[in-house]
Amino acid sequence: MIESLTFDDLSEMSGKAADLVAELLGAALARTAGATLALAGGSTPRGLYQALARSHRDSVRWRDVHFLWGDERYVPAGSPDSNARMATETLLVPLEIAERAIHRVRTDLAGPDAARDYAATVRSVCAASESADPMPRIDLVLLGMGPDGHTASLFPGSAALAAEESVVFAEAPGLNPRVPRITMTLPLLNAARAVLFLVAGSEKLPIVREILSGGAQALRYPAARVKPEGRLVWFVHEPR
Ligand code: 6PG
Repeated sequence: MIESLTFDDLSEMSGKAADLVAELLGAALARTAGATLALAGGSTPRGLYQALARSHRDSVRWRDVHFLWGDERYVPAGSPDSNARMATETLLVPLEIAERAIHRVRTDLAGPDAARDYAATVRSVCAASESADPMPRIDLVLLGMGPDGHTASLFPGSAALAAEESVVFAEAPGLNPRVPRITMTLPLLNAARAVLFLVAGSEKLPIVREILSGGAQALRYPAARVKPEGRLVWFVHEPR
């Protein structure tokens, strides 16, 4: 049975998700010197990031957290479509996170080079947090889900779904914005110690319900194939 929490109020969901993020990061920091957090892109996590910056400034040892991204769009760093830009504005700047702890995807490199570079970054950051497993083990991964069941930039039918590497360049243009992506892969996501999904948008609810039911049919959705060794919690906004 997949752990899930449903809220009819989006800001309440964001606040509760922030509480769990703080709790999981605290547990990671109690275990090792540094914790690793992979941020989600899209728009849903905005409220979560704002809640973390507003309510958990002092409840997490943020100076020892390293920030990664589950995926990034192939857009200039300053683009409004950049996942890194949204998180920077809502979370990293308000918490005054040092640049040394912020690990952005280098979309200034050619796609495959950026993927290789980011895979090395993930391995280095995780190794720094004493995780020397064959697949880097991220302490906490935040993910969203699109209306087609994609997560990160793992889209239905994408070759990236079969990747064995940790990070790949996904030529599939994906949904809006229709640009190529750099994405963490299922092996890396599933090596995580904890994964939280945050999903909002009533058009997604039938897919969410099918995934949470655990049926094999749901595996056609990439989000259903994120089954980490660690804890998995779905936060779902379901307006009444
Ligand atoms: C991206 C995200 C993507 C996102 C979903 C949901 O770069 O687009 O990583 O996986 O999480 O598309 O997006 P919304 O939160 O905007 O609905």
